Amino acid sequence: MEEIPLSRPDLTDLERSAVVKVLQTPQLSLGPRIPQFEAAAAKVAGVAHGVAVNSGTSGLHLIVRALGWGEGDEVITTPFSFIASSNCLLFERVKPVFVDVDPRTGNIDPAMIESAITPRTRGLLVVDVFGHPADYDAIEAIAARHGLRFIEDSCEAIGARHRDRPAGSFGAAGCFAFYPNKQITTGEGGMIVTDDAKLADLCRSMRNQGRDTTGGSWLGHVRLGFNYRMSDIQATLGTAQLERLDVILAERAKVADAYARRLAPLVESQGVETPQVLPGVTMSWFVYVMRLAEGTTAEGRDRVMAHLREQGIGCNNYFAPIHLQPFYRELLGTKEGDFPVTESLGARGIALPFFNKLTESQIDRVAGVLADAIDKSA
Ligand SMILES: Cc1ncc(COP(=O)(O)O)c(C=O)c1O
Repeated sequence: MEEIPLSRPDLTDLERSAVVKVLQTPQLSLGPRIPQFEAAAAKVAGVAHGVAVNSGTSGLHLIVRALGWGEGDEVITTPFSFIASSNCLLFERVKPVFVDVDPRTGNIDPAMIESAITPRTRGLLVVDVFGHPADYDAIEAIAARHGLRFIEDSCEAIGARHRDRPAGSFGAAGCFAFYPNKQITTGEGGMIVTDDAKLADLCRSMRNQGRDTTGGSWLGHVRLGFNYRMSDIQATLGTAQLERLDVILAERAKVADAYARRLAPLVESQGVETPQVLPGVTMSWFVYVMRLAEGTTAEGRDRVMAHLREQGIGCNNYFAPIHLQPFYRELLGTKEGDFPVTESLGARGIALPFFNKLTESQIDRVAGVLADAIDKSA
């Protein structure tokens, strides 16, 4: 039985030889490859500054701090995301105020934002779910109307575009992530992107133990900081991966198209939903999450996933709603029923194997086993 993994990084000799070359130098951290990678990533986002960090989570955390959000502040965000996007608010004792999402994309529903604004609201944390940019026309208008700043969590969306503007360029700052299941990887890593020179400088200082970015001694610290540095080894890998970003994204779009074609009969016969791409959007496909029919329970979905896994097909639920995680329930008093769209998407979603080199025949097999699993588990 052929095993088909959920994801697999796409690395070539370009990446391997670049990494070997950096290993032959003495400078494995705080070296020249960091600004190179930062400049290349900033260009992808169409902004002036990139700040490389050791994960998407640390990037988001630094942005929250750099914006000065803290205790007593509220930030509006969504529970249909990876947990790090609201955890980075909790790190700074900021209260995440959840609102529900657009059922088509899983992105924040702009119609829900204004009623969640209170005198304590400082901003928004907007997630580009699964590589689909949020509705920035509406979000920018609301932010401007209420004098709010927003962070763009583009950890899943490097290279995506909304009306021809790149993901990461909309908010006060955005963040990409490079874990190996992402479109491009550095093993672990993240990148803050922003047009705000002061914010970038503050993040550079905070990622490096609060050292002064204009010089100063190794043991001089002008503010509270962290070790959130990316190494030159990772930056080298990232720069090489970025050089192939267009090809990688085109390959992923082809795989997504093939899935849509192969799953069309299940859409017709079983009420399965395949991902929607709204007009004006260029996806950066991160994962391929289809949903079982409306009304399917999480238990029913888990039976389908168990069948897929028995047949050697990697899959996962995406996302587990953040507001139902035990410590969020405890902290915020959230419960089932609070965010019905998030809960429905969370109960019915299955991420299918998705990577650049997934073949048509592997997609056929996944679709066939999925059809069988739905028959048996319904
Ligand atoms: C939406 C979102 N936000 C934040 C992160 C955090 O990134 P990392 O795993 O690099 O810390 C991820 C990564 O999985 C993500 O998908």
